[in-house]
Amino acid sequence: MSAEDRAWVLAGGFGFENLALTRRPRPLPGPGEVLVRVEALSLNYRDLLLVQGQYDPRMSLPRVPLSDAAGVVVEVGQGCSRFKAGDAVSPIFAPTWHDGEPPADILSHALGHRRDGVAAEHVVLPEADLVATAPGLDATEAATLPCAGVTAWHALTTGPGAIRTGDTVVVQGTGGVSIFALQIARAAGARVVVTSSDDTKLERARALGAEFGVNYRTTPQWGKAVRAHTGGRGADHIVEVGGAGTLAESLAAVRAGGRISIIGVLAGRQAPLDVTSILMRGVTLQGVFVGSRAHAEALQRAVSASGLKPVVDRVFDFEALPEALTHMQSGGHFGKIALRLGRK
Ligand SMILES: NC(=O)c1ccc[n+]([C@@H]2O[C@H](COP(=O)([O-])OP(=O)(O)OC[C@H]3O[C@@H](n4cnc5c(N)ncnc54)[C@H](OP(=O)(O)O)[C@@H]3O)[C@@H](O)[C@H]2O)c1
Repeated sequence: MSAEDRAWVLAGGFGFENLALTRRPRPLPGPGEVLVRVEALSLNYRDLLLVQGQYDPRMSLPRVPLSDAAGVVVEVGQGCSRFKAGDAVSPIFAPTWHDGEPPADILSHALGHRRDGVAAEHVVLPEADLVATAPGLDATEAATLPCAGVTAWHALTTGPGAIRTGDTVVVQGTGGVSIFALQIARAAGARVVVTSSDDTKLERARALGAEFGVNYRTTPQWGKAVRAHTGGRGADHIVEVGGAGTLAESLAAVRAGGRISIIGVLAGRQAPLDVTSILMRGVTLQGVFVGSRAHAEALQRAVSASGLKPVVDRVFDFEALPEALTHMQSGGHFGKIALRLGRK
């Protein structure tokens, strides 16, 4: 008989009050699968929306939430060759997307939405959907990479508009994706401009290597400030986590021929937009949906080579998932929020 295990489950409806820490039999790995003891988890804004029913009000329940974890391989199923017991691993955000273009049915694979996520003491996943974690990271740091880290990596370092040394990158806000983008851009020798609602967070971003900060509350037309800071040229790349609500400012900030990576919708999904400057100034808008296993592996290599340390704002106990989500909802965090298993 398999041992007992604990998992967070969203059941009976949306909202933090419907999250329950439940007991279930420990899963067993089948052929090609790996049993992972989860050591740490991290939160993404998507998890907050998912639990509150704002990401997909038709999501079927019960559902184990969260996509991001780091852990250790306990047991491998028949035919596994990529990993062995004791290896430190992380799941990829969207199992089955290993390289190239995303599969058409990618939304069915992303963890914690239409299939169960990783908020559990043990998870079983195909070994093809895991990556080895970079040496030198502790479990909470490693758990921050699968979604936020990979998204920032994919946005900035891949495709025709990939950043080059000397480029200027604008990161919006100081949450998980944006702080990774700041660190990745700095590691690549780019200049970074950061926006935030909080001057103290701007100071912290400067300490991480940002050269210029703009408070988007007190300077709503921050695009102009970025343009002025770059001597009128504009930024090469904007990491757009605000979405429709901030796109007009991003267009004011970006240089002719520059690129805006559309990643989030924190400032709104819809807004009137004058598209003239996109075509007249040859701006590229690219949508980014996290990334593939190849992106995740490239990020792990980059972290290992550069010594990049993910910024972990606060670590909660596994048992405190609702409190951790409440902390995210408050917007007081800088970088990533993590949970640690096995501390009790
Ligand atoms: N496309 C993808 O694959 C992908 C992947 C990951 C995340 N996302 C999306 O990207 C967004 C950020 O995710 P996250 O996990 O990094 O969130 P997060 O850690 O919760 O970060 C949120 C931060 O964004 C900033 N912010 C909020 N409203 C803003 C606005 N109007 N303008 C500029 N900045 C604003 C705030 O920074 P300050 O406190 O400094 O003001 C806030 O702390 C979310 O919409 C998420 O769904 C998309």
